Amino acid sequence: MIDLNAAAMRYSSILVIGGTGFIGSHLVAQLAASGRRVIVPTRHVSRSRMFSVLPKVEVVEANVHDAAVLSKLMRGVDAVINLVGILHSGRGPAGSKYGPAFATAHVELPKKIVAACLANGVQRYLHMSALGALPQGASMYLRSKADGEAAAFAPGLQTTVFRPSVVFGPEDKFLNLFATLQKFFPVMPLGGADARFQPVFVGDVARAFVNALEHPATFGKTYELAGPKIYTLKELVELAGAMGGHPRPVLALPPPLARLQALMLEWMPGGPLMSRDNLDSMKQDNIASGPIAPELGITPTALEAVAPQYLGRKI
Ligand SMILES: NC(=O)c1ccc[n+]([C@@H]2O[C@H](COP(=O)([O-])OP(=O)(O)OC[C@H]3O[C@@H](n4cnc5c(N)ncnc54)[C@H](OP(=O)(O)O)[C@@H]3O)[C@@H](O)[C@H]2O)c1
Repeated sequence: MIDLNAAAMRYSSILVIGGTGFIGSHLVAQLAASGRRVIVPTRHVSRSRMFSVLPKVEVVEANVHDAAVLSKLMRGVDAVINLVGILHSGRGPAGSKYGPAFATAHVELPKKIVAACLANGVQRYLHMSALGALPQGASMYLRSKADGEAAAFAPGLQTTVFRPSVVFGPEDKFLNLFATLQKFFPVMPLGGADARFQPVFVGDVARAFVNALEHPATFGKTYELAGPKIYTLKELVELAGAMGGHPRPVLALPPPLARLQALMLEWMPGGPLMSRDNLDSMKQDNIASGPIAPELGITPTALEAVAPQYLGRKI
């Protein structure tokens, strides 16, 4: 663990783009608790009331895709963190690597942020990617995340990139979703059942960002973030069911049926629960190449130590 009090705080005013989401709310709380001023732009200020109790946090309604707005947000800021990410996008024109929504959120936005950092003299940039990001990866999500990573590095910028596996924690949309579904359905038909994941705790992901912020050894590096154990998707769904108090039989779907299921789920009202692109992501194992780098100062939290507490509330 890095002792922030031991060193003078070089980065005391932080712009966190994408800070209102699941991971962002934990990271913003940790940054504020470390005594920093945090600016959090959002598209919908009314949905970001969770920060109203944190006096060091300033939530502003802003269109971060507008270069002039970005420049304004960066005034007086020492470091920028970008957590913006989405899970679904329509397809792009034939031959394109990913759809327009992925291009906008994962590639064009990081380019604009980097340009604004350089134009406004902000040298420190922390960028959220995803484990398995690859220029020729199996899904639009992974390909667009890889191009976003490439955009995050620029001469004159001290960039750190993070690639977490799937992230768990009280407000996750992963274990919570599987636990809730098992409350209502007697069986769980599952695509990608054999895909392997190494879930990492949201508090550890946030801590990795906070610890890296002031740590020169992390400049110019890309870090994988993964938990202590590897699970198949089927095992995770079974764990979520058991921890949520409604264990159901999990039926692994063969690939054609899994694809049909994903296609149907894409048309669900209120946004897709799952898409064919999500299924494509699962063609690649989502596991780390080694333990978390020691300079990040993280001892990864076991899923079994945390998830029963919040999934158990669903009973
Ligand atoms: N959760 C995971 O398991 C996981 C795993 C690997 C990587 N990641 C990456 O970690 C990051 C954060 O994930 P999360 O789970 O915290 O996501 P989340 O809860 O969905 O939050 C997404 C954030 O991005 C912002 N955002 C979304 N679309 C945007 C757009 N088009 N333009 C501007 N802002 C937009 C949202 O801001 P508003 O307030 O404006 O809505 C929100 O603050 C993402 O980059 C994600 O890809 C997550």
